[in-house]
Amino acid sequence: MILELDRESHVPLYTQIAERMREKMREGALKVGDRLPPNRELAKSLGVNRGTVTTAYDELMADGLLSSQVGRGTFVSALPAGGAIETAAERAPASPMPWGALLTDERRDPWLNALAAPQSGAISFAHALPPAELFPLDAFRRSVERVLRKEGRQLLSLGSCKGYEPLRQYLSAQMALSGIHAQPDEILITNGCQQSLDLLQRILVRPGDEVAVENPVYPGAISVFCNAQAKYTSIPVGPRGLNLDVLEDVLAHRRPKLIYTVPGFHNPTGVTMDVESRRRLLDIAAHHRVPIVEDDIFRELRYDGAALPPLKALDRHGLVIYLNSFSKVGFPGLRVGWIAAPRIVIERLGAMRQQSDFHTSLLVQAAIHDFAKRGALAKHIQRCRKAYAQRRDAMLAALERHFPAEARWNKPDGGLAVWVQLPDTVQSARILMVASEQGVTFCPGELFYASAPQSNRMRLAFSTATPAQIEDGVRRLGVLLKTKLAAAKQPRWFGQVTGVQTMV
Ligand SMILES: Cc1ncc(COP(=O)(O)O)c(C=O)c1O
Repeated sequence: MILELDRESHVPLYTQIAERMREKMREGALKVGDRLPPNRELAKSLGVNRGTVTTAYDELMADGLLSSQVGRGTFVSALPAGGAIETAAERAPASPMPWGALLTDERRDPWLNALAAPQSGAISFAHALPPAELFPLDAFRRSVERVLRKEGRQLLSLGSCKGYEPLRQYLSAQMALSGIHAQPDEILITNGCQQSLDLLQRILVRPGDEVAVENPVYPGAISVFCNAQAKYTSIPVGPRGLNLDVLEDVLAHRRPKLIYTVPGFHNPTGVTMDVESRRRLLDIAAHHRVPIVEDDIFRELRYDGAALPPLKALDRHGLVIYLNSFSKVGFPGLRVGWIAAPRIVIERLGAMRQQSDFHTSLLVQAAIHDFAKRGALAKHIQRCRKAYAQRRDAMLAALERHFPAEARWNKPDGGLAVWVQLPDTVQSARILMVASEQGVTFCPGELFYASAPQSNRMRLAFSTATPAQIEDGVRRLGVLLKTKLAAAKQPRWFGQVTGVQTMV
C-alpha cells in the first residue's frame, strides 16, 4: 500500500497514516472487507516503526473503521464516507493536533502556579505575599466607587499605554522622596514587576544576547531571563548582596545586556546591599556600560534601621532602570507596578506592551491612585509593617527554639522571608514532601537558583501566617529536621557476610 507521508510535518506519522487511510476509504481505494497489510509489513514499506502503524490502526479501530480478527488480520469494517461515521477525533476533543511540537519554548516548571495554590488548612511559609486578612477591603471599595462615580466613562474606555496620568504624577512625587527623579513621562505603569521584567527582556535582549542575574534569584526572573533559549550568567549573592568581585571579573570578559538585581531585602536571601556596595556596583556597571535593572519591590517593608537610597537615586550615569509594584504592600492581585527609566526606554516599552495588553486597567490604576492620594495606602503600609515585623520576630524566635543547632538563618531587617541553610545532608525538597503531608509548606531553596542549585536551603515566608501558626509550623519543621539529622548520624551497616562491617 502506498501512503504519502510528510516527514517534515509537525503532524505525527501515525496520525498521517490514519488520515491517508481514511482518504483511501473515501476514494474507494479501500472497501469494507478489504484486508490491510500486517503492521510489520506496512511499517517496513513506509520506513516507520511498527508501533507507529499499530497506533494508526488503533486509532482507526477506535473510529469503528477497522476491526481485527485473531489469526486473520485487520479488515476495513466501515467507511467514513459523507461524514456518516463520526470519528473518534470528532467525538472526543482529544485532537491529534501536535501542540507539544508547535510550542516554541520549553519552560521550567510552572513554579508560580504551584505556589499560588495553598492547601487549605496548611500553615504556609511558601508565599512571600501580603496576607488576605490584612487587605484594606472597605477602604479600597470606597476608592473604586469614588473613581467610578467621578470618571467611570473614561476609566472604562481605552487609555494611554504608559498609564493613568495622575498615578504617574503621584509615583513621580513619591519616588522623589527616596531621591529618584523621574518625570511622569519617564514612568510606565505595568501589570506588576513580572510584566516589567518581561517587557524589558523583550526590548533589550536579542537572541544570543546574554544577561547577568543574581544567584540565587527571584524565580520569576529565572522564567524571564533564563529560559531554554536564553544565555545568562549568574552572579553569586553574598552577605552584602551581589558579589561585586565576581561581577567585575565577568564584565571584564563578557558584555551582558543588563544586570538584574534586588538590592533591598533580596528574594530569597533577605540580604540588603549597603550604600558603599551600591556605589561600587554603579561604578562597575558604568565603566562597562551595562544597564542595571533594579527591582525594589520590598522598599516599603523595612522594620529596623534607616532606609537606604535606591541605586537609581545614586545613579549619575542614567544606567538604572527602576522597578517597583504595589504587590508586596497589599495588592498582589491588582497587578499594578511601574518602571522608571530614561524616556527613550519608556517609549519603547510602551510600544512593546501595546503588542499584548495596551495598558494596565485604568479603573484599577485610578482606584489605587485615589487610595494612595487620600493617605489610605500609607496607613495600610504602616499597619502591614507592624504586622510583618511581629511575624518576623515570631519566626526568628521559633527558629531559635525549634530548629536544629546545625541550621543557620539570616535575620532580615525587612522583606517577607527568612532564608535558612541546613546541613549538606538535608534536601529541603524532601523535607517539604513530608512536611506538606503534616500541614506545613515552604519553598525549597532549589527553586531560586539560576544555576548550581543548593538543595539544603529553604525559604520561610513569615507574612501569611499568624504568630501562633508560625510557632506551630516552625516547631513541626524543627521536629522533622531533627529526626532527619539524627537518622543521618546513625551508622548504617551492611556486608556482614565476612564479619567485616562496612559503614556508608
Ligand atoms: C523580587 C521580586 N520581584 C518581582 C516580583 C513579582 O512582583 P509583581 O507581583 O509586581 O509582578 C516578586 C514577587 O514575589 C519578587 O519577589
